[in-house]
Amino acid sequence: MSRLLYALGALALGQSALAAPQLSPRATTSLDAWLATETTVSLDGILKNIGASGAFAQSAKNGVVIASPSTSNPDYYYTWSRDSALTLKVLIDLFRNGNLGLQTVIEEYINAQAALQTVSNPSGDLSNGAGLGEPKFNVDLSAFTGSWGRPQRDGPALRAIALIDFGNWLIDNGYPTYAVNNVWPIVRNDLSYVSQYWSQSGYDLWEEVNSMSFFTVANQHRSLVEGSAFASRVGASCSWCDSQAPQILCYMQSFWTGSYINANTGGGRSGKDANTVLASIHTFDPAATCDDITFQPCSSRALANHKVYTDSFRSVYSLNSGIAQGVAVAVGRYPEDSYYNGNPWFLSNLAAAEQLYDAIYQWNKIGSITITSTSLAFFQDVYSSAAVGTYASSSSTFTSIISAVKTYADGYVSIAQAHAFTNGSLSEQYDKSSGLSLSARDLTWSYAALLTANMRRNGVVPPSWGASSANTVPSSCSMGSAAGTYATPTATSWPSTLTSGTAVSTTSTTATTTSTTTSSTSCTTPTSVAVTFDETATTTYGENVFIVGSISQLGSWNTANAIALSASQYTSSNPLWFVTISLPAGTTFQYKYIRKETDGSIVWESDPNRSYTVPAACGTTTATENDTWR
Ligand SMILES: *[C@@H]1O[C@H](CO)[C@@H](O)[C@H](O)[C@H]1NC(C)=O
Ligand SMILES: *[C@@H]1O[C@H](CO)[C@@H](O)[C@H](O)[C@H]1NC(C)=O
Ligand SMILES: *[C@@H]1O[C@H](CO)[C@@H](O)[C@H](O)[C@H]1NC(C)=O
Repeated sequence: MSRLLYALGALALGQSALAAPQLSPRATTSLDAWLATETTVSLDGILKNIGASGAFAQSAKNGVVIASPSTSNPDYYYTWSRDSALTLKVLIDLFRNGNLGLQTVIEEYINAQAALQTVSNPSGDLSNGAGLGEPKFNVDLSAFTGSWGRPQRDGPALRAIALIDFGNWLIDNGYPTYAVNNVWPIVRNDLSYVSQYWSQSGYDLWEEVNSMSFFTVANQHRSLVEGSAFASRVGASCSWCDSQAPQILCYMQSFWTGSYINANTGGGRSGKDANTVLASIHTFDPAATCDDITFQPCSSRALANHKVYTDSFRSVYSLNSGIAQGVAVAVGRYPEDSYYNGNPWFLSNLAAAEQLYDAIYQWNKIGSITITSTSLAFFQDVYSSAAVGTYASSSSTFTSIISAVKTYADGYVSIAQAHAFTNGSLSEQYDKSSGLSLSARDLTWSYAALLTANMRRNGVVPPSWGASSANTVPSSCSMGSAAGTYATPTATSWPSTLTSGTAVSTTSTTATTTSTTTSSTSCTTPTSVAVTFDETATTTYGENVFIVGSISQLGSWNTANAIALSASQYTSSNPLWFVTISLPAGTTFQYKYIRKETDGSIVWESDPNRSYTVPAACGTTTATENDTWR
């Protein structure tokens, strides 16, 4: 989100906008402990920015995601299709992983998008799809009619990707009619837009360069691949997806320069840009190999690109001075950036980390790391004796590289930690010299980026989108177009409660040979894990032990909602209290044990708060945490 049009006005005022003392206390907080609270802050931060119940978005319609509560310097109190879709993709990921409480906000978002697709705007309207390329709207869902960089062609693709994820969940859990009636009509319009307009230029994700953009085409490709599979799951088909997806894949190859991915075909810049790292993480497929053709996070191309992109900031920001090669630095959108004087962004740092967490997941799953001449320089930065070759997971080289890359990735997140406000608020940027927060406050996308980086760090991955069967470049290709279907989406009723269940047939009329988009790996990532908390605590008669913590399953720190432990195995020689709680895999949280006395008073354990991450490794169904009262 750049908002170049605001940049000139913002330069004068922006510098001091959010300056506040910071940096000191968190220096002593470990990254794990910070993430345990920051994930809660981030989810709250997102929900506060969604109308109409969100505290900062009360004048927004239901399900409308504002980019930031900031209404001046800069004014981001609008809803962008791109930011909203990327945010909902995270909420849907969390929903899939057991946070069923997000049902209403997801449904309200979908209803809002059904309405938004029909709003005539300066880009056009729904009759020929052109209106779907409008980048932002007013929060009451009316058109924004001021001048702007339009159209932006990534929005429909990103919205389709988010909705398909939810639609597949609905089908997989016994709610196929809602996928057919509520989700598919919106997705069909977006897939039609992508197929019809992908070969025409538009503004990039930073709203500055009007050309062809890698982030846009990579997401367009993904949307058509999974869109086609989703179409058949709802008893329809998408011939226009099938004809255009291979053509887009072919065109994507032209962005590879030989040493990095060029972000835009226009703009007159180096082309080194967070655009390309964001493209890699948003088209990450956990079932794929380290495939160069789809630029997977662990591919040689994407790793070489990570190095070129991050290195381009080493000499640009004074915050980075003196930091050795191979150690994480502050990174921004692109080195030539001048918006607010050109600074690092939180979402850029988090994306640089996330690509590496994705790569670690892929290497572990594949069982080896392959270093090629293309990726050698990336590996040498973090592991100086790296050499071209393939290293099996049983080798010490594999173990050393995984560990070095994890440390490198954590470094990018620690930089975000160091520049966040002490209350956890994440703005858009932080000053390249002072490190103080800058530009829009409580940026929704910054919070979304924190949550996905944390999930990937914990090994929680999204469903496969089918990259492995969509990585063949046709022998001859051209920049074309195919017509789809545009129709007003109308269905907006939902079941009162969605619960996990089993798939049932989608329609009675069509043979739904499920082109399943779930990963076909031999071992699946768990959605929830039964965690047993064993607490050794000597108690007196009438005294009871409870657990309370930062997540709703542990009462959200409200002692009235704390979970009781059992003393059924308590003996004087082994004073054990325990409870088993089903928790979403990969969730990071803080907690403490408390004692409730016979008179109802509460005794807390001493500080610090404990933190815990629910395991998410393949095949894990149970875990035990052993604690002793303190
Ligand atoms: C967090 O603290 C900053 C700096 O004091 C403040 O501007 C911001 O409003 C706070 N965030 C929230 C969500 O209260
Ligand atoms: C533990 O968490 C609670 C709730 O977030 C917080 O108020 C408290 O300050 C934390 N304690 C420490 C020592 O960080
Ligand atoms: C807790 O203790 C159990 C039983 O001794 C053991 O199996 C488990 O690995 C321990 N958990 C941790 C996290 O150390």
